[in-house]
Amino acid sequence: MIKIKNLYKKFKDFEALKSINLEINDNEVVILKGVSGSGKSTLLSLIAGFDKPTSGVILIDNEPISKLPDLHLSRFRFKNIGFVFQNFNLIKNLTPLDNILAPLIPYEKSLQKAQKKALNALKVANIEHKAKEIVANLSGGEQQRVAIARAIINSPKYLLFDEPTANLDKNNSLLFLDLVKKLKNLNKTIIIATHDPIFDKLEVEFKTIKLEDGRVYE
Ligand SMILES: Nc1ncnc2c1ncn2[C@@H]1O[C@H](COP(=O)(O)OP(=O)(O)O)[C@@H](O)[C@H]1O
Ligand SMILES: [Mg+2]
Repeated sequence: MIKIKNLYKKFKDFEALKSINLEINDNEVVILKGVSGSGKSTLLSLIAGFDKPTSGVILIDNEPISKLPDLHLSRFRFKNIGFVFQNFNLIKNLTPLDNILAPLIPYEKSLQKAQKKALNALKVANIEHKAKEIVANLSGGEQQRVAIARAIINSPKYLLFDEPTANLDKNNSLLFLDLVKKLKNLNKTIIIATHDPIFDKLEVEFKTIKLEDGRVYE
């Protein structure tokens, strides 16, 4: 589980997150809501360990992610956390297969094993049929599925999504909701930062956490 205790994040003298206390249980789906600028992306990036808090602690399965040294942190993240960025962060002139194999290279010695994992991840994300296309030729919805495949390739327990439907049309947004259901059934713990009302249609049990000016709004 994720435990967040008295978390603050300042950028110079601007307090982006204030006094955040949260617990997120295993296999829970959390919708992190709030208007633009309320602190959603900041909170997600602290949970993923991309940035450090100004004060407070984040424990993920009792590991203080907010305090781990870099090498340990990148290993922990690689094993446990999948992150899908708002703009997907894919290498556009490579294929989906190469995009999702690249992060495995430092860790996986057998290329064959790595490829097997990659193809399986593409399958779960419903994009295996485009495995060898060039990413630049894929639609927004397809690129997102590649980014999701990359996030799940190691079967991490935690999946974080930043505004996953912001660049999708309605049909692809609904397909994303189906995928969330599938991922919950695979026992993932899922946090989705979004202000898209389409998530009201999510057909799995979820918890809503609302941020307002960097605070959890009760
Ligand atoms: N690196 C940064 N430097 C300065 N201010 C930042 C930085 N990142 C975020 N902020 C500010 O923190 C606030 C929260 O941003 P963010 O977490 O991106 O909000 P959201 O994702 O909810 O739109 C905003 O006012 C934003 O301008
Ligand atoms: Mg954001």
